[in-house]
Amino acid sequence: MTAPPVPYRVVRRRPETADTITLRLSPAGPDALPAFAPGQFAMMYAFGVGEIPVSVSGIHGPSLEHTVRAVGATSGALHALLPGDRVGLRGPFGTGWELERAAGQDVLVVAGGIGLAPLRPVMVAALADPGPYRRLNLLVGARSPDDVVFHEQLRHWAHRRGPHVAVTVDRAGRDWHGGVGVVTTLLNGARFQPDRTTAFVCGPEVMIRAVARELLHRGLPAERIRVSLERNMRCATGHCGHCQLGPVLLCRDGPVLGYDRAEPLLIVREL
Ligand SMILES: Cc1cc2nc3c(=O)[nH]c(=O)nc-3n(C[C@H](O)[C@H](O)[C@H](O)COP(=O)(O)OP(=O)(O)OC[C@H]3O[C@@H](n4cnc5c(N)ncnc54)[C@H](O)[C@@H]3O)c2cc1C
Ligand code: FES
Repeated sequence: MTAPPVPYRVVRRRPETADTITLRLSPAGPDALPAFAPGQFAMMYAFGVGEIPVSVSGIHGPSLEHTVRAVGATSGALHALLPGDRVGLRGPFGTGWELERAAGQDVLVVAGGIGLAPLRPVMVAALADPGPYRRLNLLVGARSPDDVVFHEQLRHWAHRRGPHVAVTVDRAGRDWHGGVGVVTTLLNGARFQPDRTTAFVCGPEVMIRAVARELLHRGLPAERIRVSLERNMRCATGHCGHCQLGPVLLCRDGPVLGYDRAEPLLIVREL
């Protein structure tokens, strides 16, 4: 038995790119979901259309932010929501990034495309309370400048004292001042000591594999490379088996895993 979705209301809608928006959601009635941790996800129900897993990209007391890329029917319906519209939410589900594991270490946040959405609360938390960590790095890759999400926030973080923030794109016009190339090219400019670093990596699986391979090569232990894996989900409560990947149910044991556990799973393609 899964709990019914709790009604939330869209209180703000911010376009990120041509196909991606961030929705700020507040409880529409007396009920609210329990607190989310960075890295966890909600099942978002577009009434009359369907329900999909979406990571939390912002946590503001009982209000939540979710960043949705329109790729199909349900994500398209969520993308079309306007302030005042309602959505159903279940959650929180899954494992979190567990930033506290990086205490005393350099922090390396590596995001590809919309993979920055689940990592955004990690950056917010690390910047709000930087004390426990050594150096903080954020490396972002996107297909083009128009595909970079959270533009303003990235600019703001880049101008703050402390974090090293770098963005690269696969292809760019003349007015682009960031890097050009895959996100692994940014590792050389990052400030981290491999044997004292925890990495948090999210993006397309090909990018996760490339980043993890490079970090392993530089001496990061696999268990200190935390990655988030995506598979289609239905119940999100560990019952239907829809998200099974080898011995792992990603809705329950993931989506965030150490690379020591994730690497053997990444050879299993989604059916
Ligand atoms: C734990 C988790 C967290 C997620 N967080 C986010 C998020 O923060 N923001 C966001 O926009 N999306 C996120 N997703 C992906 C999102 O759930 C899918 O895009 C969505 O399920 C697509 O459903 P649809 O009905 O709109 O499209 P469908 O009609 O189901 O699919 C349309 C196309 O998208 C592809 N697709 C379906 N699911 C995925 C997927 N998981 N990854 C990549 N391609 C997919 C399909 O192969 C198809 O080509 C997350 C998925 C998981 C498992
Ligand atoms: S989605 Fe049903 S077991 Fe994971």
